[in-house]
Amino acid sequence: MKKFQFSWRAALVASSILVSCAGAAFAADAPLSDKEVRTRADALLAKMTPEEKAGQITQYFDFLKAPDEAEKVSGEVAAGRAGSLLFVADAEQINRLQHIAVDQTRLKIPLLFGYDVIHGFKTVMPVPIAMAASWDPKVAEAGQTVAAAEARAIGLHWAFAPMVDIARDPRWGRMIEGAGEDPYLGAAFAAAQVRGFQGPYIGAPGHIIAGPKHFAGYGAALGGRDYDESNISDDQLWNVYLPPFKAAVEAGAGNIMSAYMGLNGVPASGNHWLLTDVLRKAWGFKGFVVTDAGAAADLKTHGFAQDLPDAGIRALEAGVDMEMSPPFSQSAFKTLPASAAAGKVPRKTIDEAARRVLEAKIRMGLFEHPFVDVEAAKRVLDDPAHREVALHAAERTAVLLRNDGDLLPLDRDAVKSIAVIGPFADAARDTTGPWIFNQDDKETVTVLAGIKAKAGAGVKVEYSPGVSIPARLFASIFESALHDKAPRVEVDDTAEIQRAVAMAKTADVAVLVLGEAQIMIGENASRSSLDLPGRQQELLDAVIATQKPVVVLLMSARPLDLKGSQPRALMNIWYPGSQGGTAVANLLFGDVAPGGKLPFTWPRDIGQIPLPYAHLTSHRPQKADQRYWNEPNSPLYPFGYGLSYSTFQYSNLKIGSERVAPGTPVAVSVDVVNTGSRAADDVAQLYIHQRYGSSARPVRELKGFERFTLAPGEVKTVYFTLRPEDLTYWTASKGAWVQDETIFDVYAGDDSTASLAGSFEVRKK
Ligand code: BGC
Repeated sequence: MKKFQFSWRAALVASSILVSCAGAAFAADAPLSDKEVRTRADALLAKMTPEEKAGQITQYFDFLKAPDEAEKVSGEVAAGRAGSLLFVADAEQINRLQHIAVDQTRLKIPLLFGYDVIHGFKTVMPVPIAMAASWDPKVAEAGQTVAAAEARAIGLHWAFAPMVDIARDPRWGRMIEGAGEDPYLGAAFAAAQVRGFQGPYIGAPGHIIAGPKHFAGYGAALGGRDYDESNISDDQLWNVYLPPFKAAVEAGAGNIMSAYMGLNGVPASGNHWLLTDVLRKAWGFKGFVVTDAGAAADLKTHGFAQDLPDAGIRALEAGVDMEMSPPFSQSAFKTLPASAAAGKVPRKTIDEAARRVLEAKIRMGLFEHPFVDVEAAKRVLDDPAHREVALHAAERTAVLLRNDGDLLPLDRDAVKSIAVIGPFADAARDTTGPWIFNQDDKETVTVLAGIKAKAGAGVKVEYSPGVSIPARLFASIFESALHDKAPRVEVDDTAEIQRAVAMAKTADVAVLVLGEAQIMIGENASRSSLDLPGRQQELLDAVIATQKPVVVLLMSARPLDLKGSQPRALMNIWYPGSQGGTAVANLLFGDVAPGGKLPFTWPRDIGQIPLPYAHLTSHRPQKADQRYWNEPNSPLYPFGYGLSYSTFQYSNLKIGSERVAPGTPVAVSVDVVNTGSRAADDVAQLYIHQRYGSSARPVRELKGFERFTLAPGEVKTVYFTLRPEDLTYWTASKGAWVQDETIFDVYAGDDSTASLAGSFEVRKK
């Protein structure tokens, strides 16, 4: 196999050379000391009026496409009443607005520009859940490094990312933005993305501030309904939902976004326990907290604050530093000066928030370099090395779920005609996924284009969209006048299914690209069904009925229900980004072997959800798979699952000591051999189970993983260390963190059902 050889480091060096040559995207040339940053911020603060302070802690949306609002925003900037803007994503516009702030305001304080840089800016990476499916945090780090370089080049300073919300209910559309259901995997990807965005320090050239979100518990929305409240036990909060945030804070994230919803009855953006007791006091977070859009004013909507001024006071006092203010809505933080004058809120609390925002600007070097070089920015956006990072990522994220009779990789000698079918086969906009606004659709390689280019002239490639994708019953906020509508394929479904079937009958293989349109997943895209939208299921069954070999590529970010259909091969390709089609073709034809693994459990049926693999043992465990009388409640595909073009065998699980004292690390190793006939990747996974203790603990918990490539016959010993913190958890029985004296079972293998087992005991000597 010609393994794709690529060094993302080389690519990043190349792009940072570009950035530095440009000389305009520079931030602080070296990290500033905390003392220097503080002294400078305090000096500025001493000159500011209460209104200017309230301005610094207010962030406005600026949709340039809405002229009335844009004019109002420019006016607020000129008057020194805005500290930050979001949604401006054009270098010239950023310079224009920055000039207003720097040239026209009394104190010449530059604006901080924030943006949803979720999975790329112009170069589009696979969506975040796909990155997690790579089980390779370096891939996510590299992707966010590129995204940061592009964003910084055009004048952005801050990403509202990574989203580190744990998601265990696939009805919730935003599971696409996170790392799935597991806190350990989630923490690893949270930290990696923070490193990618921020680089070695806040203000590093070509980097931007990371803003992990949505603090906290947003992924547990009731019924998977976006924005609805979350009710999460302390056990689940500490052990499941909070660890990725803690990891992001420990990685140095400069910002945190507070969530929209109510957490256990207290709105997250007015939640003092979350924003102050946990975030600042327990974790020592030093950056600034922004609300999600309008979430301060929304404290009134929630029935929590009495009125707008009360909402401002309660958000601020809970620990919010900046209010994100949506277009044409009232700002709660603008009422703070009057509240302070009336003695309802201490001036020093407002000062504290303003100081944190000023510190971020100082660290980013904005006072020295407020503007960007528009021409240099174009060069950064067009850097071909960025596309290689996207390609490499897309290849590593695909998860192969079925491959009967080794249909994949396609046999180049035997396959002379391919029917490429499905509404997403040639859908550039869907290929890049949601939360993307600056891509060039013409640059996006669709699956059809990728297959055509790879197959070459000797292979006949025919295409049918198969069916159209129906519109949503309720339009998405992203389909509003302010965003561009994605073009949609319109066909007569009945006639097109017939055409697709006829095409499949004459082809050697049919490749179906099915799933959900990008507008059907993401924010404001929850769903009460996991079925294929529209008549895709009918299309799939009709093509399978031709008895031709069928490959299904799912463009999806949640586990879809194919109703028992059994295509010969099934691969989840997620929303693979601007190089997605090339990556998919490389995978189909075997230039690279799939090595991704599921970052969530894939249920048989929507009625099973939530179905986390890390559940408790509970009563009658021998019947654990028979909790429903009508079907097994085991998953269709377990967490951590994914096939390869090769096979791997695990053996020789070794545990360093049979007995250790609390606080001692435990070494674990396992041997893996590639038993197949080609080089390929696998992901070794380590799970533990605590047999008894202060709480009942999950049947399995991921505590280590490593992705590697092995040549045929090659053996590798994978080493893990179970650190004391991996054996420690928060127990409701004591309201505290404990490491129990107990016995741990250990499992190693390449998914969460791994059978190779051992155990060790933790006991004081
Ligand atoms: C989302 C955030 C996003 C913000 C700004 C909100 O609706 O919940 O994740 O960063 O909008 O676009």
